[in-house]
Amino acid sequence: VEKNDLKISLEAIFSAKQKISSKVKLTSTEFSQASSDRLGSDVYLKFENTQVTGSFKIRGALNKVSSLSDSEKAKGVIAASAGNHAQGVALSAQAAKVKAVIVMPVTAPLIKVQSTRAFGAEVILHGDSYDEAYEHARELEKEKGYIFVHPFQDPLIIAGQGTIGLEIMDQLPEVDTVIVPIGGGGLISGIAFAIKSKNPKVKVIGVQSSQTPGMSQLYHQEPVTECAKRTTTIADGIAVKKPSKQMFETYIQKYVDQIVTVTDDEISEAITFLVEKEKTIAEGSGAAGLAALFNRDLGVGQKTLVLLCGGNIDLNLVSQILDRGLIRKGRLTHLSVITQDLPGALASLTKILGDNRANILEVHHDRVSRELFLKETKIDFVLETSGPDHILQIKSALKDSVLRFA
Ligand SMILES: Cc1ncc(COP(=O)(O)O)c(C=O)c1O
Repeated sequence: VEKNDLKISLEAIFSAKQKISSKVKLTSTEFSQASSDRLGSDVYLKFENTQVTGSFKIRGALNKVSSLSDSEKAKGVIAASAGNHAQGVALSAQAAKVKAVIVMPVTAPLIKVQSTRAFGAEVILHGDSYDEAYEHARELEKEKGYIFVHPFQDPLIIAGQGTIGLEIMDQLPEVDTVIVPIGGGGLISGIAFAIKSKNPKVKVIGVQSSQTPGMSQLYHQEPVTECAKRTTTIADGIAVKKPSKQMFETYIQKYVDQIVTVTDDEISEAITFLVEKEKTIAEGSGAAGLAALFNRDLGVGQKTLVLLCGGNIDLNLVSQILDRGLIRKGRLTHLSVITQDLPGALASLTKILGDNRANILEVHHDRVSRELFLKETKIDFVLETSGPDHILQIKSALKDSVLRFA
């Protein structure tokens, strides 16, 4: 692909739309009252997290696989992916009755590995990061003659993702700012190209993870720093370590108006917000746009559209994120107290907690911890509370019945 011309035309995006529209969902764009209240101007969300396969990636993959010649199809396809592209390629190949081999890093979320296998692809887990999986897939391409389906650096992939841009302009013609996460940059390139072709005045803002900010660094003419070998970002879908200069020069630098980065904490909070207020599940990368809108000064206009580009997230990660969100809001509290180790001590504390409407979720009793003197015991509670004031009230009610707070 590196040799190919990456350039696309608006016609290529319309042609992609024709090819894929019977198999992908026209995802809805809806006004978000809660986001608008928080921002002070109108915010719309496009629910691409509800797309077939749980992310936009099916669009590009389907456009690519269905454009292959019969002899190419006979060779089978190979792809490297942290997960969403994997599912897109696997399902597209299944639909076209083409063999698919997908290399995923060992760190890929379980849900993405399982779904890819469920679409009939052969999954090879290799390497700690997307980049290592990519190298391996390119070796297998040479060795076995498979057709490589690049996750972003391919005009057919970019045109497929660009169909989202057409939909945005149909669904919200008066939009003035569109926020799109960036991994390799295929998504934002297609969308920005489509949108700018229709209305050059619409601002397109890109969002990266602060742990993998390569494209942002290129954009700001900063040195591209090396990312940690194993990144732990929850935004695994946009964790591309080496930015592509060609993507940058062909698209990002031309059509993207601004790029910002967001932290995992900001993304977690956006995921929690989406669950609580919008009743929708976004994965880390899928919520990055909203995290940027809430935490960076983007100079947005009156009508902003945020693309929720994916929803594939492990349930146990959702549960951790929601727990942290509850702790932040004072609705879940860890409280450790030290009391005398006497019969009835625990009962008297739980009575106080009950009288103060603190629901006990967990209790742990510890008599051997080093911080304790003899005849002391430490009790750790996890409590359901209603907010910071409630926590203060509980602490003050407990004060006279404990030796100290740990
Ligand atoms: C949910 C999600 N958002 C955003 C991206 C970034 O897309 P691109 O690599 O085309 O920039 C990906 C890529 O896999 C993704 O899965």
